[in-house]
Amino acid sequence: MNQRIPQETIEEIRRSVDILDVIGEYVQLKKQGRNYIGLCPFHGENTPSFSVSPDKQLYHCFGCGAGGNAFTFLEQIEGFTFVEAVETLAKRANVVLPERVSPSVKQNRDEELLISIQEFAAKFFHHVLMLTEEGKAGRTYLERRGFTKEQIEHFQIGFAPPHWDALTNVLAKRDVDLKKAGESGLLVERESDGKRYDRFRNRVIFPIRNGKGKIVAFGGRTLGDDKPKYLNSPESPIFQKGKLLYGFYQARPAIRKENEAVLFEGYVDVIAAWKAGVTNGVATLGTSLTEEQARMIRRNAETVIICNDGDAAGAEATFRSADLLQQEGCHVKVAMIPDGLDPDDYIQKYGAERFKKDVIGESLTLMKFKMKYFRMGRNLQNEGERILYIEEIIKEIAKLSKAVERDHYLRQLAEEFSLSLDALKQEQYRIYREMKRQNQVSQGKTNTVRQKKHDFEQKRLLPAYQNAERILLAHMMRNVSVAETVQERLGGRFNVDHYQAIVAHLFAYYAEGFEPDPSTFIQRLEDQELIRVATELAMLEINEEINDQELNDYIEKIEMYPKWLELQQIESALKKETDPVLYATRKQELINMKKQLKL
Ligand code: GTP
Ligand code: MN
Repeated sequence: MNQRIPQETIEEIRRSVDILDVIGEYVQLKKQGRNYIGLCPFHGENTPSFSVSPDKQLYHCFGCGAGGNAFTFLEQIEGFTFVEAVETLAKRANVVLPERVSPSVKQNRDEELLISIQEFAAKFFHHVLMLTEEGKAGRTYLERRGFTKEQIEHFQIGFAPPHWDALTNVLAKRDVDLKKAGESGLLVERESDGKRYDRFRNRVIFPIRNGKGKIVAFGGRTLGDDKPKYLNSPESPIFQKGKLLYGFYQARPAIRKENEAVLFEGYVDVIAAWKAGVTNGVATLGTSLTEEQARMIRRNAETVIICNDGDAAGAEATFRSADLLQQEGCHVKVAMIPDGLDPDDYIQKYGAERFKKDVIGESLTLMKFKMKYFRMGRNLQNEGERILYIEEIIKEIAKLSKAVERDHYLRQLAEEFSLSLDALKQEQYRIYREMKRQNQVSQGKTNTVRQKKHDFEQKRLLPAYQNAERILLAHMMRNVSVAETVQERLGGRFNVDHYQAIVAHLFAYYAEGFEPDPSTFIQRLEDQELIRVATELAMLEINEEINDQELNDYIEKIEMYPKWLELQQIESALKKETDPVLYATRKQELINMKKQLKL
């Protein structure tokens, strides 16, 4: 598949983009020594094990083993094909690709077609709302709700006329494939005769964009009390509602700049908050927050303020989202809205200033929110209820990882209810132990990550020959003369399969006259597993120089391993040997071998 784009072009692109910029759009990176580290975007974690090397133009995660260069990063994170990754980075680097490659790849065409239909429909809905007689009902509705022209433009709000065939006819006139329009949910097929008609009728239309800003779906709100209140596009090849956040594309620059995102429940809340100057707001698409969405947020900001409706359902949703966001390593805060209002209602009633100052500005720590949450609907004058409440709070305190925080809240609790701090501490510890025991019983998902990490760390205790192969390969990737020496003395006789394959590729790479450059080299491996392993080796922390003595030692260790294996076999055969003559011959063989191996 690489053959379609000339190798030089790929090289040129790779040289012109910096992996730090590419990854920096997805991961918050901090400098540490020569490398940059951050939270791995490929698995959930709280402490950074994802490392990016600007020198080598490679990334590697010590937790889950993911690794590669700028192209593989886009392949992994966006699910791109190699060609798509090249195309994306070519645009960034202002490198023009040859014609036959650049009009997008086949697999991609279908999705692009679906997207172009959505984009077209969005323009149509927006046009209807802004400029037509039919759009009047929509305009009146939005006016009544206080939407300004800027909001309508910024979020490209539209209106679907109250007919069965308004969009259908426009699409047909434009020769758009109606079957495709149906696949993306804009049209619905009537069962009786297969005729297609508009899904969205007489509704205000909120376009939903993907991470790249392309419109992939719509939410349509009724003007009145019809059910459903919001009608959304169904899931399609371009739209999976658990993977997108409403308003994310527009909010992302602000989210990154402020290192903080605000998570709302409704589209309208995002739009109202935007007018109030809260431009870092996003919302789920009518479902509870998913792990993927939480991770999307975490990649762009450290802090999340959850701002749900001020009713019981909102508080429950906050509880769920908070746990998930915390698991993904977010610092969670909660903005609470009084009187059962939602953010939009609140802004209408009290204005933008107060929303920013009294709601967003006064957001609580998660623990404070939980304290309020557990208090709801409970009469703390009643002893039984009070004890239940205290137990629940201690449970939450036990989940905190920082001792100072635990201490802080335990003191608060002790003071409020006139309890002994020591007693609360003991109880907290008991609950902590209990939870830990339960966690060990139900091996959760986080454990698989921990397991992986464990596997990785074990590599430090690898057998000597494997260590030798790893270190030698790391040097060979950086230094041609080391590679040449190894080629002469050892050839490709590495013992670990993956390393053997990488060595073969490396010899071929140098034979073609390439300079040592890990990022260029791994590009040519193509196989994802080999890329991963080679990246890990390229990122190994080794001394820059290797002297002849060390080089010799490593080569010997590698050479000796197969012989050592043979020795093991002879030894075990010897133990089972009953024939005294054969025993004697085998024994002699063994002694000879040991001599040879200097054992
Ligand atoms: P307004 O009533 O227009 O102010 O919207 P809201 O945001 O106050 O509505 P609500 O709190 O009821 O819903 C929040 C979000 O849930 C909406 O933005 C939608 O994404 C989703 N939602 C609400 N009602 C429906 C529905 O009937 N069907 C679907 N699929 N989603 C809905
Ligand atoms: Mn509302």
